[in-house]
Amino acid sequence: REAGLTTYDIVQRTAWAEILPGLSTEIMGYDGLLPGPTIRARRGERVRITHRNRLTVPTVVHLHGGHTPADSDGYPIDLVLPEIEGGAHHGGLHTDETGVITKGSRTYDYPNDQPAATLWYHDHRMDFTGPQVWRGLAGLHLITDEVEEALDLPGGDRDIPLMIMDRSFGADGSLRYPALDPELADPPGVYGDYVAGVLGDVILVNGRPWPELEVDAVRYRFRIVNASNARRYRLALDPPPPSGPSFVQIGSDGGLLDAPVGHDTIQLAAAERFDVVVDFGAYPVGTAITVTNALGVGSTDAVLRFRVVRAARETSRVPARLAEIEPLVPAPGATVREWRFSRGGAGGPAHWVINGLAFDPSRMDARPRLGEVEIWRFQTDLHHPVHVHLSPFQVRRRGNRGPGEWDRGWKDTIDLAPLETAEVAIRFDDHAGRFLLHCHNLEHEDMMMMSAFETV
Ligand code: C2O
Ligand code: CU
Ligand code: CU
Repeated sequence: REAGLTTYDIVQRTAWAEILPGLSTEIMGYDGLLPGPTIRARRGERVRITHRNRLTVPTVVHLHGGHTPADSDGYPIDLVLPEIEGGAHHGGLHTDETGVITKGSRTYDYPNDQPAATLWYHDHRMDFTGPQVWRGLAGLHLITDEVEEALDLPGGDRDIPLMIMDRSFGADGSLRYPALDPELADPPGVYGDYVAGVLGDVILVNGRPWPELEVDAVRYRFRIVNASNARRYRLALDPPPPSGPSFVQIGSDGGLLDAPVGHDTIQLAAAERFDVVVDFGAYPVGTAITVTNALGVGSTDAVLRFRVVRAARETSRVPARLAEIEPLVPAPGATVREWRFSRGGAGGPAHWVINGLAFDPSRMDARPRLGEVEIWRFQTDLHHPVHVHLSPFQVRRRGNRGPGEWDRGWKDTIDLAPLETAEVAIRFDDHAGRFLLHCHNLEHEDMMMMSAFETV
């Protein structure tokens, strides 16, 4: 054990979980859990995680939002093959010529040298991320720092992550996912038709369907993580509080905002995070409050429910200033890169491409220089939540307007509407190597909507 280093062992395995009442569901989980175990670290405290693969399929672990060296970032062909004999099966892997493949286990190093933030880790196996995350390979990784600890935000059991995901189940409780991989196919088929990605009709929060949470009549902090493969949500409180905004946003993907912002709705696409404070002190004891989803219909129009069970003494506050955010200012003549996300390209209509090209892990599409602020422009045909590995960005504009309502702070994923353009400023500060830019609709990602870049 080195100073400032914490080690974990995680076993990736199948497990039976009671997700729907009275039914057993086979999941693929980190330590057999859905969500996986929560990793916690203080800023600068290194974490080393050895993942053992006791599944029957190759895996790759990525820490989403982490400033992680390339060899631990989970490049999609850096496979961990199953340790179980005979389990090594490559599915439709396109190439392994540049991947670092290990058998049985792999150790990932996370410096955690970044501001307090809500990160999550999930599978990133090339071509199969969608089905493997769907089966359960997702967990939280929380970083704290002194800035956050000095703020008196709601803490302890009033600081609650809400990992939201939609799933579908068969009548026997089994998870349903239409996939190409014979090990995962259910039923075997082609998911090129799933233009919007794979959507489920059951909403899980922290692995439970539409849960009810008992709360005291005080402020709570919720770290909302959209861990769905493809679904977008617009969350609201029903009833809304008699006065004041429903949600006070204190953070986004990459950490705390500079100042809190009130919202009546929070809209988030796959992989986005919103850190919010809800004040249940505004409601009479006994009130039930539903978190609704205005983008859902039928069973997906609600996410969870709170019940205010008792009065309690308020010990938290939301200060007017949260964290210092350094504005990223591109120098005159800064590098501008365009990234067009669209269906089709050389791979045919069942593919999703960036700048007309399908993902090729051995082709570097950009070589940004470490330490330089660049301007990246994203452009879409349909909805695409665009995610960049390694460093977060700041949104400068959408179309010819400024940043949108939900674009504040450090972002690593931006939800783009059809035929939209957005401009962000980004700077990679450390870690030379290969990283990814991709659509976080996992079905688009698996259908080649990724691009590799190398920081130099
Ligand atoms: Cu959350 Cu490249 O992924
Ligand atoms: Cu990521
Ligand atoms: Cu997409």
